[in-house]
Amino acid sequence: MTDTALSFVHRFEPATDAGAPPLLLLHGTGGDENDLIQLGRMLSPGSALLSPRGKVLEGGAPRFFRRLREGVFDEEDVRFRAAELADFVTEARKVYNVAAPVAVGFSNGANIAAAMLLTRPEVLAGAVLLRAMVPLAAPPAADLKGRGVLLLSGGMDPIVPEENAERLAAQLRAAGARLDHRTLPVGHGLSQADIGLARQWLAAPQPVAA
Ligand code: MLT
Repeated sequence: MTDTALSFVHRFEPATDAGAPPLLLLHGTGGDENDLIQLGRMLSPGSALLSPRGKVLEGGAPRFFRRLREGVFDEEDVRFRAAELADFVTEARKVYNVAAPVAVGFSNGANIAAAMLLTRPEVLAGAVLLRAMVPLAAPPAADLKGRGVLLLSGGMDPIVPEENAERLAAQLRAAGARLDHRTLPVGHGLSQADIGLARQWLAAPQPVAA
């Protein structure tokens, strides 16, 4: 059920398996807190699910930060919104009593997850970034040592050029993340291969639980 009590409209589902990592589900442009619940259940059965709705509206479509046009971001807003979302995660962790979550973000949600990794690395235990691109051209020097990140890109993605995904991969590696970057023969949309790889990756033990 949607909850409006904390600083983001969100859904929370408690864990049914204490050993499964909590997931922070971050939807794409035009999605909401309900969008990725099924995906979360499929990717990591038994995980607690925390699913906020992006606060920025673009022609009525919820997003996690403002963009000037497709692929061109308002970086000041990216920083502000990443901090705001990180504060929400901290707040929700106390209320729901969960460990630092692994973010699972798609498209715009993957981009804000990447921004959080690079600006507030302590908030996330790791991340699955589905079709992410560089959120900040010159991110601060983050310490992601030991944190696992699975970056799944589409080789035929019309929104995220391969060079851009490679640049994000380099930023995450430079910050010390244990990065697994795969480029699948698909476009921007999610495929069965994404689901299989993400599921497998999430089932493996995560070394960092902040
Ligand atoms: C973004 O704006 O974050 C990216 O262009 C992905 C999208 O939401 O279309």
